[in-house]
Amino acid sequence: MAFLSGLSVAITACLLVNAIAYSAKHGTTLSKLTALQSLVFNNAQATVTLDSTALKQLVKLASNGISQTRTEGVGFSVYVKAEDLTLGGGQTLIYDGVLTNDGNGYDDRTGVFTCPLAGTYMFVVDSLSRKPTSFHLYHNRTIVASLHISNNLPSHTYVQISRTVILRLRKGDHVKVVSDKSKPGTAHRGYSGFSGARLY
Ligand SMILES: *[C@@H]1O[C@H](CO)[C@@H](O)[C@H](O)[C@H]1NC(C)=O
Repeated sequence: MAFLSGLSVAITACLLVNAIAYSAKHGTTLSKLTALQSLVFNNAQATVTLDSTALKQLVKLASNGISQTRTEGVGFSVYVKAEDLTLGGGQTLIYDGVLTNDGNGYDDRTGVFTCPLAGTYMFVVDSLSRKPTSFHLYHNRTIVASLHISNNLPSHTYVQISRTVILRLRKGDHVKVVSDKSKPGTAHRGYSGFSGARLY
């Protein structure tokens, strides 16, 4: 019995933390929750009984908090559909295969990711290519990362190249992959993609 009470206090406390985080974020029913919180803590040493309406309300608020987080998620993962894509100089890579595009930031007609929600994002660019290949990852007009295949390699050697960056973005910022003007290169299906996700 004591164990069960302890367990229910733990569960309730956990629900409360979620519910309070949610209400703090959304500025709703905070006073109601504070009242509930003191009810739980006052009762913790005696018998733990929460009336079912209060418990239902807590569960509802806690799960609202969770689904809210989920709908705010931004992430995309796209790839090259063509067997062997040959690029022109200074061309934005258009990854036409879309695995995920939560938040609809990535545009598969232009290859540009437009940040729908400010935050800190991680981006990964990878490619299976032959020389001469050089790609640049742009944040707006600034190159923030580059991928390159050494000129010393034999022409028919395929190389898997990759870069990962973490960037702070504001809403409306653009992120894209552009081929180098003098070494545009190639990208191969299944081995070449572009992914990004909002971390926090
Ligand atoms: C990046 O470019 C977008 C679109 O032109 C613009 O709205 C935004 O303010 C720019 N961001 C920065 C940090 O310059």
